[in-house]
Amino acid sequence: MSDPAFDRRLLDLAARVAMRSVGNVEPNPLVGAVVVRWMGSTPEVIGIGHHRRFGEAHAERAALSDCMRRGHDPRGATVYATLEPCNHTGKQPPCALGLIEAGVAEVVAARRDPNPLAAGGFEALEKAGIRCRVSGDSRAAIALSDPFVKRVKTGLPWVIAKWAQTIDGRVATRNGESKWISGDRSRKRVHRLRARVDAVLTGMGTVLADDPMLTARDVRRVRRAAMRVVADTDLDMPETAKLVTTARDLRTIVACSAELATGEITRAKRQRLATAGAVVVGVPTIGERLDLAALLRLLASEHGVSSVLVESGPGLLGSMLDADLVDELVVYVAPMMLGDEMARAAAAGRIAPTLSMAQRYELLRAKRIENDLEVVYRRRA
Ligand SMILES: NC(=O)c1ccc[n+]([C@@H]2O[C@H](COP(=O)([O-])OP(=O)(O)OC[C@H]3O[C@@H](n4cnc5c(N)ncnc54)[C@H](OP(=O)(O)O)[C@@H]3O)[C@@H](O)[C@H]2O)c1
Repeated sequence: MSDPAFDRRLLDLAARVAMRSVGNVEPNPLVGAVVVRWMGSTPEVIGIGHHRRFGEAHAERAALSDCMRRGHDPRGATVYATLEPCNHTGKQPPCALGLIEAGVAEVVAARRDPNPLAAGGFEALEKAGIRCRVSGDSRAAIALSDPFVKRVKTGLPWVIAKWAQTIDGRVATRNGESKWISGDRSRKRVHRLRARVDAVLTGMGTVLADDPMLTARDVRRVRRAAMRVVADTDLDMPETAKLVTTARDLRTIVACSAELATGEITRAKRQRLATAGAVVVGVPTIGERLDLAALLRLLASEHGVSSVLVESGPGLLGSMLDADLVDELVVYVAPMMLGDEMARAAAAGRIAPTLSMAQRYELLRAKRIENDLEVVYRRRA
């Protein structure tokens, strides 16, 4: 049964349950699945499941188990999944096999699996006589696996940039004051976000201005202990910075130019940072600054990083945006106005001189957080 409105509603539902496991399953994809029985042309949901934790049951098997637990028979049902069922034995048996054994009649997926290791689910299902189709009707279901698809296709981590701004788009006063623009509850949500990514990246400007810890505080359950990463081309990092003095307990990476990461003149400084527990890594430069794509690639390949939260000032953020390295924006708009053209804008400008050249984003969601607004955008493909 193919009805765009039902496809959207059922895949939206699968995406909503899967979102509960952000930070628990990566580098696996977030996946949700819904088992549906048709009452004439009306769907009845008889099972819902999602991939809850890395290494545990995949969404389709979780949804089939839920269906059986509720006393329903999945034979002849339609399964809506946010990603094509895998055809791969890893920590879990192939989902395609589970669906074949359960005797479902049809599988609808929001997108095909780009991972060559797991692909082939549709072919295996079709071979067993199960109808398969892709439905692009749920934006939420497609957006859900964007991070996974990007990682598989490019080897780069998913990059979220977060900042707090005034109504007129300023992130600090002309003197660099930025504590605090957003309210308590917004800042709590940022801590929660930090507890769900592999790395938090900032620039030396923010270290010098704010001396941040970049930790996830007062979070009920830290899903991922994010390493702190500082873009510091010239290895200027003060040894008294909180990021360094806490580096024994919380992983801190100082990324400097490849030359300074090995050169004689910085040997003593590197030694002191290493003694404090910080890890100095060398990154190629473009002009006078770090090659940020190379930094992201290094974080992914050498440090297993699959998601990065950028919490920097306008300098680093501007370069990240300029190099088109940011996938998602989480912006807190606080109800205040500076009206000062010398106050710092969110991104140091060089991105687009005309509207037609502007980087375009898609609005994913917006939510009121006390008196602030939390707005989430995705880079438009
Ligand atoms: N409202 C908010 O959400 C928020 C968040 C964070 C910060 N802030 C504010 O932002 C201000 C600091 O902004 P900022 O622009 O000076 O600092 P920043 O963006 O945090 O850091 C910029 C520094 O990063 C280093 N860097 C390394 N590679 C780079 C590259 N490829 N491109 C650009 N920079 C690179 C550079 O230092 P080296 O040349 O030494 O490498 C550069 O000076 C502070 O006032 C802070 O309070 C506000």
